[in-house]
Amino acid sequence: MLRQVLLAVSKSERAERVISTSPLTRDVVKRYVADDVGDVIDELTRRGLLVTVDHLGEEVTDPAQAASAVGEYLSLLDLMPAGADVSVKLTALGLRLSEQLALDHAATICRAAASRNVTVTLDAEEHDTIPGLHSVHAALRREHPDVGVVVQAYLPEALERCEKLEGARVRLCKGAYTAPGAYTRPADIDRSFVRCLKILMAGTGYPMVATHDPRLVRIASTLAVLSGRDVTGFEYQMLYGVRPDEQTRLASLGAQMRVYVPYGSDWYAYLMRRLAERPRNLTFFLRSLMSR
Ligand code: FDA
Repeated sequence: MLRQVLLAVSKSERAERVISTSPLTRDVVKRYVADDVGDVIDELTRRGLLVTVDHLGEEVTDPAQAASAVGEYLSLLDLMPAGADVSVKLTALGLRLSEQLALDHAATICRAAASRNVTVTLDAEEHDTIPGLHSVHAALRREHPDVGVVVQAYLPEALERCEKLEGARVRLCKGAYTAPGAYTRPADIDRSFVRCLKILMAGTGYPMVATHDPRLVRIASTLAVLSGRDVTGFEYQMLYGVRPDEQTRLASLGAQMRVYVPYGSDWYAYLMRRLAERPRNLTFFLRSLMSR
């Protein structure tokens, strides 16, 4: 229930005006959003962690804003070490305006990334954008076979989607939005996650296991061994600011651990989704507001 409320608030322009202009929110934002993205990339890389960097922004309805998002990614790529990844939301590149526009912009980013040995992963957003996401991903894959895509386990079609994505780089996550017909009970989402993971680990693609859930991390490591994958055959992914000690621990065991680093001023919807995921995050948020 609280999750639904927070996800609704994440789309409210009025709430955004109040919350995002409040200086009181700064500490909470700093926990989840990189202040100086170059410094954060350097620091994580020094600690043996991989990065995927997201320039915050979504649901763009102005072509100029979509073009400006591409410019941001091109500048960002200058800061990225080889082996890094950028995460891209197609609605930031104009998917709501036209699929072709988003495809053209994403192709520009993919070409620039490839020239720097950086990969690109397409985030999964609201349910009505998922068909466009996979059609753009399929088109990009013809020229860039390593372009990745996200599958949300809360969608009942996730398993079939993983089967269709055989051979691809696939980031599997639980799903941060709401969707009609989506699994809502944690146990159902976890079961779907594990079913998808089995398909991805048994396949020939590259699974990216995006979760902070200790049980799912354990299951992923077991499935990787059973599927004959060594530590280079898959990776874990976690969000910047969430379970940093566990990120370091997994990397110190030799696992490939990639941290999703968001940056930029358009952090409101991202932050609200993080609060919706975990009521304890909300307590932290409210406490830091009250302690001012
Ligand atoms: P969940 O939030 O259910 O937590 C499960 C358990 O993990 C908790 O019970 C606790 O044990 C532990 N845990 C979680 N947070 C913790 C914390 N702060 N401190 C300590 N323990 C904690 N979604 C989407 O729809 N599209 C996308 O493209 C992406 N992309 C993406 C990339 C990456 C790298 C990640 C990690 C996640 C996403 N997501 C996403 C978000 C994803 O769908 C999901 O909403 C969040 O990861 C939260 O789900 P968890 O799997 O972490 O488990």
